[in-house]
Amino acid sequence: MRTPIIAGNWKMNMTPKEATGLIEALKPLVKDTNTTVVVCVPAIDIPAAKQALRGSRIKLGAQNVHFAESGAYTGELSAAMLKEAGVEYVIIGHSERRQYFGETDETVNKRTRAAVAAGLTPIVCVGELKEQREAGYTDALVTYQTLIALTGLTPTEVRKVVIAYEPVWAIGTGLTATDEQANETIGVIRKAIAARYGKGVANRVRIQYGGSMKGSNVKGLMAQPEIDGGLIGGASLKADEFAKVVNFDK
Ligand code: 13P
Repeated sequence: MRTPIIAGNWKMNMTPKEATGLIEALKPLVKDTNTTVVVCVPAIDIPAAKQALRGSRIKLGAQNVHFAESGAYTGELSAAMLKEAGVEYVIIGHSERRQYFGETDETVNKRTRAAVAAGLTPIVCVGELKEQREAGYTDALVTYQTLIALTGLTPTEVRKVVIAYEPVWAIGTGLTATDEQANETIGVIRKAIAARYGKGVANRVRIQYGGSMKGSNVKGLMAQPEIDGGLIGGASLKADEFAKVVNFDK
């Protein structure tokens, strides 16, 4: 059995003070869950979030990582820096980074390898644009994105990676993939992992759905056999709403 994983992606929201407030409000609301809970905060919030998370089982995540160990990369953060600051998870290849910041499948792969090498758990994002779904490319695209992202990892390393399937047309739009659509595409991703790394590995990899997931639709999505969790944007910015998602099984 795969342990469900619900991660909040705060994107560019919350100052350090606001981060502390949100985490303090969230902690009591999710204390009884067996689900893995992660908050992926802006880099500047990491120390405050780390402090606020003390005494809780909520995990700390970042939203990006550079692939070099160190060097002349102004504005970037290395995996070692994140690790030392107490980060355990890192989102890689979010569609907003692909769309606005020149992220490619190749740089997603480099970041994923650097994260794994440093002992961070990557949350690798894949997903199609609306036009790509309409043209029937979804399965090929998510297969390609996933396999490139994982290239160079050993099967043991792949097992620990988290994949987030986020159809780009469902992000921040209020549109959600239907439960069945999300389940089917996540099934395609799992099959691709099975074909390359074996069924044992594929059965262990946790694959999330992301895109307008919230308290009112989480139950249906999580009832699907392939869906192991969620990557939550807007609904992760309010403690009570995020707690509803985390407590989907209560
Ligand atoms: P929303 O939940 O706001 O649609 O964002 C999803 C997302 O991009 C999470 O990474």
